Amino acid sequence: MKGLLEEIKVRTSKRAFDTRPVPREMLDTILEAGRLAPSCANTQEWEFVIITGPELLQQAHEGISRGNAWGKRAPVMLIVVTKENGGCGAHGLPYWMMDVGLATQNILLQSFHLGLIAHPTAGWDERKLKDVTGIPEDRRIGTVIFIGYAGDITLLDERTQGKERAPRDRKEIGEIVHHDKW
Ligand SMILES: Cc1cc2nc3c(=O)[nH]c(=O)nc-3n(C[C@H](O)[C@H](O)[C@H](O)COP(=O)(O)O)c2cc1C
Repeated sequence: MKGLLEEIKVRTSKRAFDTRPVPREMLDTILEAGRLAPSCANTQEWEFVIITGPELLQQAHEGISRGNAWGKRAPVMLIVVTKENGGCGAHGLPYWMMDVGLATQNILLQSFHLGLIAHPTAGWDERKLKDVTGIPEDRRIGTVIFIGYAGDITLLDERTQGKERAPRDRKEIGEIVHHDKW
Protein backbone atom coordinates (compact mmCIF):
# COMPACT_ATOMS: atom_id res chain seq x y z
CA MET A 1 0.00 0.00 0.00
CA LYS A 2 1.26 3.49 -0.83
CA GLY A 3 1.92 6.00 1.94
CA LEU A 4 -0.74 8.62 2.55
CA LEU A 5 1.37 11.50 1.21
CA GLU A 6 1.99 9.57 -2.00
CA GLU A 7 -1.76 9.25 -2.49
CA ILE A 8 -2.33 12.92 -1.66
CA LYS A 9 0.33 13.84 -4.23
CA VAL A 10 -1.27 11.94 -7.08
CA ARG A 11 -4.94 12.55 -6.29
CA THR A 12 -6.46 15.14 -8.59
CA SER A 13 -9.99 16.27 -9.32
CA LYS A 14 -10.48 14.46 -12.61
CA ARG A 15 -13.41 15.00 -14.97
CA ALA A 16 -13.38 12.03 -17.38
CA PHE A 17 -15.81 9.53 -15.87
CA ASP A 18 -16.82 6.08 -17.01
CA THR A 19 -20.54 5.39 -16.63
CA ARG A 20 -19.91 1.96 -14.99
CA PRO A 21 -21.71 1.78 -11.62
CA VAL A 22 -19.71 1.81 -8.38
CA PRO A 23 -20.38 -1.16 -6.06
CA ARG A 24 -22.45 -0.34 -2.99
CA GLU A 25 -19.74 -1.67 -0.63
CA MET A 26 -17.28 0.87 -2.02
CA LEU A 27 -19.75 3.69 -1.54
CA ASP A 28 -20.35 2.55 2.02
CA THR A 29 -16.63 2.86 2.84
CA ILE A 30 -16.54 6.30 1.24
CA LEU A 31 -19.49 7.45 3.36
CA GLU A 32 -17.85 5.92 6.43
CA ALA A 33 -14.74 8.00 5.74
CA GLY A 34 -16.95 11.11 5.66
CA ARG A 35 -18.72 10.14 8.85
CA LEU A 36 -15.43 9.76 10.73
CA ALA A 37 -14.10 13.24 9.87
CA PRO A 38 -13.17 15.58 12.71
CA SER A 39 -15.43 18.55 13.42
CA CYS A 40 -15.43 21.55 15.75
CA ALA A 41 -16.63 20.37 19.20
CA ASN A 42 -17.61 17.14 17.42
CA THR A 43 -20.77 18.83 16.11
CA GLN A 44 -20.69 16.70 12.91
CA GLU A 45 -22.78 19.23 11.04
CA TRP A 46 -23.01 17.13 7.88
CA GLU A 47 -25.43 14.83 6.13
CA PHE A 48 -24.98 13.09 2.81
CA VAL A 49 -27.42 12.52 -0.04
CA ILE A 50 -26.01 9.94 -2.41
CA ILE A 51 -27.71 9.59 -5.78
CA THR A 52 -27.06 6.51 -7.93
CA GLY A 53 -30.46 5.78 -9.55
CA PRO A 54 -30.40 6.70 -13.25
CA GLU A 55 -33.79 8.44 -13.16
CA LEU A 56 -32.97 10.61 -10.17
CA LEU A 57 -29.49 11.30 -11.52
CA GLN A 58 -31.06 12.58 -14.72
CA GLN A 59 -33.33 14.92 -12.75
CA ALA A 60 -30.41 16.12 -10.61
CA HIS A 61 -28.40 16.86 -13.77
CA GLU A 62 -30.83 19.74 -14.39
CA GLY A 63 -29.18 21.41 -11.41
CA ILE A 64 -25.59 21.15 -12.67
CA SER A 65 -23.94 24.22 -14.20
CA ARG A 66 -22.98 24.19 -17.86
CA GLY A 67 -19.27 24.29 -17.01
CA ASN A 68 -19.62 21.09 -15.03
CA ALA A 69 -21.51 19.13 -17.70
CA TRP A 70 -18.72 16.53 -17.54
CA GLY A 71 -20.23 15.46 -14.19
CA LYS A 72 -23.27 14.03 -15.96
CA ARG A 73 -21.31 10.91 -16.92
CA ALA A 74 -20.51 10.11 -13.28
CA PRO A 75 -22.64 7.26 -11.88
CA VAL A 76 -22.64 8.79 -8.40
CA MET A 77 -23.55 12.26 -7.17
CA LEU A 78 -22.81 12.78 -3.50
CA ILE A 79 -24.39 15.91 -2.09
CA VAL A 80 -22.75 17.11 1.12
CA VAL A 81 -25.35 18.92 3.21
CA THR A 82 -24.85 21.18 6.21
CA LYS A 83 -26.85 23.57 8.38
CA GLU A 84 -26.07 27.25 7.98
CA ASN A 85 -24.73 28.58 11.29
CA GLY A 86 -25.00 25.11 12.76
CA GLY A 87 -21.99 23.44 14.30
CA CYS A 88 -19.67 25.34 16.57
CA GLY A 89 -19.56 29.14 16.71
CA ALA A 90 -16.05 29.77 17.99
CA HIS A 91 -14.41 33.04 16.84
CA GLY A 92 -17.49 33.84 14.76
CA LEU A 93 -16.02 31.61 12.06
CA PRO A 94 -18.23 29.37 9.91
CA TYR A 95 -16.85 26.13 11.29
CA TRP A 96 -19.85 24.30 9.84
CA MET A 97 -18.25 24.91 6.44
CA MET A 98 -14.87 23.73 7.66
CA ASP A 99 -16.53 20.60 9.00
CA VAL A 100 -18.12 19.72 5.67
CA GLY A 101 -14.76 20.47 4.05
CA LEU A 102 -13.04 17.96 6.27
CA ALA A 103 -15.71 15.34 5.57
CA THR A 104 -15.35 16.12 1.86
CA GLN A 105 -11.59 15.61 1.92
CA ASN A 106 -11.99 12.26 3.70
CA ILE A 107 -14.46 11.28 0.97
CA LEU A 108 -12.10 12.38 -1.81
CA LEU A 109 -9.14 10.50 -0.35
CA GLN A 110 -11.07 7.31 0.37
CA SER A 111 -12.52 7.36 -3.16
CA PHE A 112 -9.04 7.78 -4.63
CA HIS A 113 -7.67 5.04 -2.37
CA LEU A 114 -10.28 2.69 -3.84
CA GLY A 115 -9.15 3.47 -7.37
CA LEU A 116 -12.03 5.83 -8.15
CA ILE A 117 -12.04 9.45 -9.19
CA ALA A 118 -13.95 12.01 -7.12
CA HIS A 119 -14.45 15.68 -7.96
CA PRO A 120 -15.91 18.28 -5.57
CA THR A 121 -17.86 21.14 -7.14
CA ALA A 122 -19.52 24.46 -6.44
CA GLY A 123 -21.17 24.75 -9.87
CA TRP A 124 -24.79 23.77 -9.25
CA ASP A 125 -28.20 25.26 -8.54
CA GLU A 126 -29.09 24.71 -4.90
CA ARG A 127 -32.81 25.35 -5.48
CA LYS A 128 -33.05 22.72 -8.22
CA LEU A 129 -31.05 20.14 -6.27
CA LYS A 130 -33.21 20.70 -3.18
CA ASP A 131 -36.39 20.30 -5.24
CA VAL A 132 -35.16 17.02 -6.76
CA THR A 133 -33.85 15.50 -3.53
CA GLY A 134 -36.14 16.95 -0.85
CA ILE A 135 -33.23 18.39 1.14
CA PRO A 136 -34.98 20.57 3.80
CA GLU A 137 -35.07 24.34 3.48
CA ASP A 138 -33.04 24.93 6.64
CA ARG A 139 -30.11 23.00 5.19
CA ARG A 140 -27.41 24.22 2.81
CA ILE A 141 -25.58 22.26 0.15
CA GLY A 142 -21.84 22.55 0.84
CA THR A 143 -20.61 20.73 -2.21
CA VAL A 144 -21.59 18.15 -4.80
CA ILE A 145 -19.01 15.42 -5.37
CA PHE A 146 -19.05 13.39 -8.56
CA ILE A 147 -17.64 9.89 -8.04
CA GLY A 148 -16.94 7.03 -10.43
CA TYR A 149 -14.32 5.09 -12.35
CA ALA A 150 -11.94 6.94 -14.65
CA GLY A 151 -13.15 7.00 -18.25
CA ASP A 152 -12.13 8.08 -21.73
CA ILE A 153 -10.73 11.60 -21.71
CA THR A 154 -11.38 12.02 -25.45
CA LEU A 155 -15.13 12.01 -24.76
CA LEU A 156 -14.75 15.40 -23.04
CA ASP A 157 -15.00 18.65 -24.96
CA GLU A 158 -11.67 20.23 -25.89
CA ARG A 159 -11.68 22.86 -23.16
CA THR A 160 -12.33 20.26 -20.46
CA GLN A 161 -9.67 17.96 -21.95
CA GLY A 162 -7.22 20.86 -21.57
CA LYS A 163 -8.10 21.21 -17.87
CA GLU A 164 -7.71 17.46 -17.45
CA ARG A 165 -4.22 17.50 -18.94
CA ALA A 166 -3.03 20.61 -17.10
CA PRO A 167 -0.22 20.03 -14.59
CA ARG A 168 -1.00 20.36 -10.91
CA ASP A 169 -0.70 23.96 -9.76
CA ARG A 170 0.22 24.71 -6.15
CA LYS A 171 2.03 27.47 -4.29
CA GLU A 172 5.54 26.60 -3.18
CA ILE A 173 5.97 25.58 0.45
CA GLY A 174 8.11 28.69 1.12
CA GLU A 175 5.18 30.93 0.12
CA ILE A 176 2.80 29.52 2.69
CA VAL A 177 4.79 28.29 5.69
CA HIS A 178 6.16 30.56 8.42
CA HIS A 179 8.56 28.87 10.79
CA ASP A 180 8.27 30.23 14.32
CA LYS A 181 7.15 33.76 13.28
CA TRP A 182 5.15 35.26 10.37
C1 LIG B 1 -15.31 23.63 -2.77
C2 LIG B 1 -14.78 23.28 -4.14
C3 LIG B 1 -15.53 23.60 -5.24
C4 LIG B 1 -15.08 23.25 -6.53
N1 LIG B 1 -15.88 23.53 -7.61
C5 LIG B 1 -15.51 23.08 -8.81
C6 LIG B 1 -16.38 23.23 -9.93
O1 LIG B 1 -17.51 23.72 -9.80
N2 LIG B 1 -15.95 22.78 -11.12
C7 LIG B 1 -14.73 22.21 -11.30
O2 LIG B 1 -14.39 21.81 -12.41
N3 LIG B 1 -13.89 22.03 -10.25
C8 LIG B 1 -14.25 22.44 -9.02
N4 LIG B 1 -13.42 22.24 -7.93
C9 LIG B 1 -12.13 21.57 -8.12
C10 LIG B 1 -10.96 22.54 -8.01
O3 LIG B 1 -10.90 23.34 -9.16
C11 LIG B 1 -9.68 21.73 -7.81
O4 LIG B 1 -9.74 21.05 -6.57
C12 LIG B 1 -8.45 22.63 -7.82
O5 LIG B 1 -8.28 23.24 -9.08
C13 LIG B 1 -7.18 21.83 -7.50
O6 LIG B 1 -7.04 20.78 -8.40
P1 LIG B 1 -6.92 19.26 -7.91
O7 LIG B 1 -8.08 18.96 -6.97
O8 LIG B 1 -7.01 18.45 -9.17
O9 LIG B 1 -5.62 19.11 -7.22
C14 LIG B 1 -13.84 22.60 -6.67
C15 LIG B 1 -13.08 22.28 -5.54
C16 LIG B 1 -13.55 22.61 -4.28
C17 LIG B 1 -12.73 22.21 -3.07
